[in-house]
Amino acid sequence: MNRRIIGLSLVFMFGGSALLVTWVYLSSENHFHSFALPPPFTFEIPNDNAAITRGDHLTRTRGCRGCHGEDLTGQLMWEFAVAPNLPELARNQSAATLEAAIRHGIDHNGRAMYSMPSYNFVRLRDADIADIIAYLRSQPVMQVELPGTPLPWSIRWDIALGTDFAIAAIIELVPALKRDELTDGGIARGEYIAMTTCNECHGLSLHADTPWDDETAPSLIIVSAYDFENFKTLMRTGVALGGRELEMMSGVARSRFAYFTDQEIIDLYAFLKDMIARDNEKLSSGQP
Ligand code: HEC
Ligand code: HEC
Repeated sequence: MNRRIIGLSLVFMFGGSALLVTWVYLSSENHFHSFALPPPFTFEIPNDNAAITRGDHLTRTRGCRGCHGEDLTGQLMWEFAVAPNLPELARNQSAATLEAAIRHGIDHNGRAMYSMPSYNFVRLRDADIADIIAYLRSQPVMQVELPGTPLPWSIRWDIALGTDFAIAAIIELVPALKRDELTDGGIARGEYIAMTTCNECHGLSLHADTPWDDETAPSLIIVSAYDFENFKTLMRTGVALGGRELEMMSGVARSRFAYFTDQEIIDLYAFLKDMIARDNEKLSSGQP
């Protein structure tokens, strides 16, 4: 082939791919910047011991430590996401900025996050968000070197094509809480727990209805196979029905759910049983 043609096609190829790279980058950034900030969080942040203890309990049972590290000073996740140093961030950012990240998936630069599972925390109550912030601010700030890892091009590509999205895009799909503590007591408390921790993996409504298709966690209808003692054993020790060790759930239970109080396990079980009973009623009456 003529040298000039080879040269021209090389210019075209590299020129074209530079354009493509630019397009992928700009489209994905455009997506990350397309989410409005929520109204500012104005709830007062307490600093009493009860609030700090509650905040600590929430960071354990809601899994913050699984990603941000045991002492919450941050770590690399899945080789591409950097969960930041939370005590440090909590000192440097306003409560409104922290709340926008925790419940709405928007970071302190106003950019939607890709990995932080805020859909799991959007139903956390104001008082609990305030207690988490109180706890983070009570912790010593340790300087930790964290890697700076760019979002992989494969993810940017899917976002540019519209087949993947920032977490902020699915927050509005999380169902509202349906039970009221005044009338439903423990069932409402259990719903609150399930809808702010189990729905990270078991689906937005706990029915394996995750908006992505690579999930393996079953619908929590599976709890119908569990009596209370079996359920408590799973939560406390990670050992599933029939003495099984589960690939993911067993470790998750040991690191998070072992911190549930006895009452929380009772409430969670009561809620799941009630949810299953309602599901069955709907099924037998032919409702969708
Ligand atoms: C599944 C892993 C995971 C869990 C669980 C998790 N985080 Fe994150 N978090 C991340 C990652 C990763 C980031 C960095 C942004 C990104 O890549 O999405 C982040 C970012 C944040 C930010 C925003 C930082 C900024 O730049 O403004 C805050 C605040 C935060 N997390 C708090 C929490 C709290 C509080 C909890 C528990 C209630 C929690 N996270 C649970 C992974 C997680
Ligand atoms: C971080 C993800 C994650 C969270 C959070 C999570 N689970 Fe799971 N769970 C799984 C996965 C994945 C499985 C399927 C088995 C496996 O691969 O470990 C599972 C399986 C189960 C099972 C079936 C056990 C069996 O007999 O096979 C039950 C019951 C269960 N989870 C209950 C819960 C409850 C209740 C919560 C909330 C308190 C919860 N899970 C939170 C990931 C999770």
